[in-house]
Formats: sequence, structure tokens, C-alpha cells
Amino acid sequence: MSNNANTKGLAGVTAGQTSIATVGKEGKGLTYCGYTIEDLAEHSTFEEVAFLLMQSRLPLAGELEAFHTQLQKHRTLPDPLKMVLEQLPSSSLPMDVLRTGCSTLGCLEPEMDFTAQRSVAIRLLASLPSMLMYWHHFSHNGNRIDTNTTEKSIASHFLKMLTGSTPSELNERALDVSLILYAEHEFNASTFVSRITASTLSDIYSTITGGIGALRGPLHGGANEAAMEFIERFKTPAEAETGVLEALACKDKIMGFGHRIYTTSDPRSAIIKQWAKRLSKDTEDSHLFAVSERIEEVMWREKRIFPNLDFYCATAYHTLQIPTSLFTPIFVMARTAGWAAHVFEQRADNRLIRPNADYIGPDTRSYIPIADRSESN
Ligand code: COA
Repeated sequence: MSNNANTKGLAGVTAGQTSIATVGKEGKGLTYCGYTIEDLAEHSTFEEVAFLLMQSRLPLAGELEAFHTQLQKHRTLPDPLKMVLEQLPSSSLPMDVLRTGCSTLGCLEPEMDFTAQRSVAIRLLASLPSMLMYWHHFSHNGNRIDTNTTEKSIASHFLKMLTGSTPSELNERALDVSLILYAEHEFNASTFVSRITASTLSDIYSTITGGIGALRGPLHGGANEAAMEFIERFKTPAEAETGVLEALACKDKIMGFGHRIYTTSDPRSAIIKQWAKRLSKDTEDSHLFAVSERIEEVMWREKRIFPNLDFYCATAYHTLQIPTSLFTPIFVMARTAGWAAHVFEQRADNRLIRPNADYIGPDTRSYIPIADRSESN
């Protein structure tokens, strides 16, 4: 396949097969293992979805309980990992902290062979929120928090560690739904990194560490933080309208808008928007939601570009009083389920991922000894 303008960024290229998700497929939309995202966001929980992704089927009631128990048991951080987290300054980016934490756990509790892959994935799902919150509290105020909360869900566990109190049902469910929406998205950039890493028969920690690195960029997961930085510049919808028009005039990208696969809308956006609205009503501060909606209106009117999941997630997370720098790490907490599922699938029928490149460099030329080199040759 030629790397011409049409395949730049591998746009439109089918890079493999998967049974895990469909994204924007006609008649299907976004599905995880055959279940629509609308059904999952309405009826399921993040833990149920994580089980589904990793086992390719919904759990029975007893299995889900056992899964919760396993996740709760694995929230503890080993002392050497805490020591590493304590060395990282408060100025570190939380995404870098998670990347380091994941990699460190891989040194302390290595995946001995692939039969351990499911338990390592569960360990990471359970402990990534703990790593993030342990570092967050220690680096900002020297507190060594206990990461073993008794909260059942990961959403509630995270909010409890962040704020010190059990969240309201509304807040827990809003975060839980966002985790469902963030859990999986087919061959997105970070998942592809994870699959490439898995295809070399590397260990699962390396696949997830690589995924975190790819997710960090503002064209991918980092968009939710960049979206927040944009939204909070504006005090009123009118100011937001002017700001969007100015940004577009400068050919700036508005983060949290657009998508490589979806052409008219991101099905996850409608769902998270409803939750952002509910949260905003609950706090009786509708300002941020109104600003967000105006940005959406202007982007559609001017460019026919729609919000992706990251945009209203930013609004929802801010309303939940989550610091902006933790938005993309929350995405990690959820996407770890999808990354793990793809690693399992890649390993089950592996072939090294190693594409070709079209060479566009100079013709073969004679080597020039260093003493004979000049700027002209
Ligand atoms: N704001 C303004 N213009 C945008 C835009 C945005 N968020 N997203 C795309 N566009 C415009 C581009 O400027 C480009 O216009 P041009 O053809 O006049 O140059 C056109 O739409 C195609 O954009 P491009 O970046 O080439 O598309 P892509 O398929 O490579 O990129 C994204 C997809 C997601 C990377 C892109 O939409 C983007 O950068 N969005 C913002 C980051 C983001 O929200 N990422 C999270 C994705 S879930």
C-alpha cells in the first residue's frame, strides 16, 4: 500500500481484525462485543463493561460480585511503588505519573507468562486510580492516603480518594458512565500502540505504558484537558461565541471537536452531554454548560464539526470539581480495560505488526570521509 496523501496518518486503512468493538459502522454505530454504547451507558456499570471487554461476554451476577471483590483487593500499592511516587514532584504531569507508576509496577510484579495476563490487567485497573491519588495527595500536601477505600465501584473509589468523602449517587454514576464511554474505541492511536507492542510478544505492562504515552497527546486523550482550558476562558456564551470565531479565523483547532472516523456526530457525546447537563442542574450553576453548548452551536454552524466525547466530559468533570490535570488520567483508568482486551486478542492470534514505508529520501550516494566533508556536499 502506498503512503500517498490519502493514507497519511493511516486514514482509511484497515489495519487488522477485531471482535471487540465497532466504531461508526453502518447499522451498528459504537458497540462493545455486540452491545450498543447506548444500552451499556443506560443499564451497565464500568466494572460490568470491563468484564465484558476482557471476557467477551457479560458476567453472571456471581461473577460480577467476584470481579468487584478482586478489584477491591488489588487497590493496595506496594511500598517500593509508593516510594517512587513520593519522589515525583507536584509539578509532574499526572499522565507522566501514571506512565511511571505502571512501568514501576511492571518491575515489582512482572508478568511472568501470558497465563497471568488477566490478573495483571485487573491489578492495573484496580491500582492505577490508587497510584494517581496517592501521588496527588502526597505531592501536594504530604498526605500518605490509604488507597483501600471500601467503595464498591471504581468511580466512587476514585472520588472518595480525591475528596475524602463518598460521592452522591448522581456524581458516582456520572463518572461511572464516562468510564463506560471511555473504556474502548477500536483501533484508536493508543490502542494501536498497545497492539503493536503486544505483537512483539512484550509484556502487558509495556503495552499499557505505551498506551498511556500515546493517550497523553492533545490530538487524542489530552483533548479533554485542552477542551477545559478553552471552555473556562469564557464567562458568558456570547464571549464564547466571539472566542470560537476568533480561534477559527486563526485556523486554530478547537480541542474536543472532530473525529477521524465519525463524520456527523460522536454517539458518546450525546450521552455525556446529558450527564453534564444533569450535573450542572444539580450544582445550580449552569454557566459552564451554557458556554459549552454555545461553543458546540458555533462549531456546527461555522464548520459542521461536532463535539467528540472529550468535550462534554470536560464540562462534566469540571462540574464534579475534578482538577483539569486529572481528566486524561481518568481516561487511562477506563481505557486500560480496552487496551487489555486488545492485547489479549492480539496475543491469541499474533503476527508481528510491521508495515512498509514508501521511501522519499535521497538516492544512494557515496560515503564521504569526515575530513573531506563540506557544506556543499
Ligand atoms: N477544530 C477546528 N478544525 C478542525 C478540528 C477542530 N477540532 N478538527 C478537524 N478540523 C479541520 C482541520 O483543520 C482540517 O481542516 P482543513 O482541511 O481545512 O485543513 C479538517 O478539519 C480535517 O482535520 P484533520 O486534523 O486533518 O483530521 P484528522 O482526521 O486527521 O483528525 C482529529 C482527527 C480528532 C485529530 C481532529 O479532528 C482534531 O485534531 N480534533 C481536536 C483534538 C481532539 O478533540 N481529539 C480527540 C479525538 S476523540
